[in-house]
Amino acid sequence: MAKLLETVDLVTNFYTYEGVVRALNRISLTIEHGVTFGLVGESGCGKSVLVRSLMRIIQEPGRIDGGRILFYPERDAGPVDLVQQSDDYLCGLRGNQISMIFQEPNAALNPIMSIGNQIAESFLIHRRKELDRDASTTSSLIPTRSKSRLRKEALRRVVSLLEQLGIANPKEIVHRFPHELSGGMKQRIVIAIALACRPMLLIADEATSNLDVTIQAQILQLLLELKKTQISSVLLITHDLGVVAETCQRVGVMYAGNLCEVADVQELFSNPRHPYTQALLAAVPKFSQEGQLKSIGGNVPNLVTPPPGCRFHPRCAQAKPACRERFPADTHLGNNHTVACYLYTDQSRASAP
Ligand SMILES: Nc1ncnc2c1ncn2[C@@H]1O[C@H](COP(=O)(O)OP(=O)(O)O)[C@@H](O)[C@H]1O
Ligand code: SF4
Ligand SMILES: [Mg+2]
Repeated sequence: MAKLLETVDLVTNFYTYEGVVRALNRISLTIEHGVTFGLVGESGCGKSVLVRSLMRIIQEPGRIDGGRILFYPERDAGPVDLVQQSDDYLCGLRGNQISMIFQEPNAALNPIMSIGNQIAESFLIHRRKELDRDASTTSSLIPTRSKSRLRKEALRRVVSLLEQLGIANPKEIVHRFPHELSGGMKQRIVIAIALACRPMLLIADEATSNLDVTIQAQILQLLLELKKTQISSVLLITHDLGVVAETCQRVGVMYAGNLCEVADVQELFSNPRHPYTQALLAAVPKFSQEGQLKSIGGNVPNLVTPPPGCRFHPRCAQAKPACRERFPADTHLGNNHTVACYLYTDQSRASAP
């Protein structure tokens, strides 16, 4: 399958008063066209920092200190390294070719702007020429207070987009403000904003975690439907392994700023190899389970002073002396399955810490 986005040895650090937070430690992963890629791991493992780095929205005191983010907008052409791109290029990319849905819709929506105008902004920023062309051939189908021709056309597109998302009364919803909507409806609006320009990659960072289970299922279903028709690939961050099993084709497991295992979803669930992945899966409640759940002992380390070698070694029952000294290199196990663990690699091939 053709690559859509690839990171190579990506390093992101935060320069705080307590010291340097080593949040991403040489992350290399690939997302292909048409794939839903799930990223899992406990809180504080670096999932959000990774996707914020991909979008190039890491703010002070954070900085991308190394590596490349290769984006392949054309299937047959070479990549663009997003680490090297200007702010102008990135503004044209975000919300257009790559979009992101955040966990908290209230933070993503402007409280004093109508829903219609907020979604219309995406069209007005990225699709001005198309709006201009279409505005001369269509008459206004919706009542709007806006006098601008382009804004009218943008609002017409907004109504059509909300209809596609199955939102009832879109012509009325466009005039509402965020505080007048429920949590689930606000998250649908955030999805509409992210989808307005049909991005090639949609990143959803715990996008449904704050919603109740029924609405969560509806939103995930909606994302999957949209993936078939509107977007190419999805990068889904969630702590819910059940959601990953149901929705993703590939999965990456992060621990303390490292990507420790990547595999196809069925392969990872049936044949987890990294002790951390095994522990994560063992901690998922099962219907047939009796007795206590197996929790993972200990905590994710402070990333200012991460443990040397494999960062999981203080919590790993299978750790050996080499694990405390050097970071294990990736081992390719076949079956499109990669793991970074000394249980599967020759120690002499280990990379530098
Ligand atoms: N703005 C920041 N300043 C300092 N440290 C940060 C900042 N943002 C994230 N971090 C640190 O980066 C690490 C990874 O965080 P994050 O990506 O948010 O984890 P996750 O999304 O997996 O829960 C954590 O140790 C966190 O404290
Ligand atoms: S490298 Fe060593 S410490 Fe790390 S997960 Fe593998 S066995 Fe455990
Ligand atoms: Mg996060």
